[in-house]
Amino acid sequence: MPLEIPDALRKEHHSLHSQLSHLLSGSGKVKEAAALIERSLSPHFRKEESYALPLLGLLPDLAEGRDLPDLEAAATMARLLEQELPGMLADHAEIVGLLKGLVDGAAAEEDPDAFSFSVALKDHALFEEAVLYPAARLVGRSLKK
Ligand SMILES: [Fe+2]
Ligand SMILES: [Fe+2]
Repeated sequence: MPLEIPDALRKEHHSLHSQLSHLLSGSGKVKEAAALIERSLSPHFRKEESYALPLLGLLPDLAEGRDLPDLEAAATMARLLEQELPGMLADHAEIVGLLKGLVDGAAAEEDPDAFSFSVALKDHALFEEAVLYPAARLVGRSLKK
């Protein structure tokens, strides 16, 4: 497996972005809250996609004990991830905080799509913090052995 974002994770980011674009095409409080979220979420996704999630593409090779491709690029990503992790967790706190405005807008405007997106994005952040970030860090550590 190459040093690429696993398809399942790429699709999840794509799906979240599509849902957010849909909310941005609406109006009122939901649109306003969605615009604030977009401002923080887009740079956050770019960080993840450039140096956190591609490390997870190495998991099948690591699990099988195969030689890893792109070791130098992977080591650079792993270093960046360690450096940037506190900021990425702060992004999550900020984004989850902004979801409150979206949930309020969704309640006021009876918008089930905005509710679904809020739940999906919060779950995504929790999953990353509990599983994906630690897994990417472990991949990084395994490169040093
Ligand atoms: Fe993400
Ligand atoms: Fe994230």
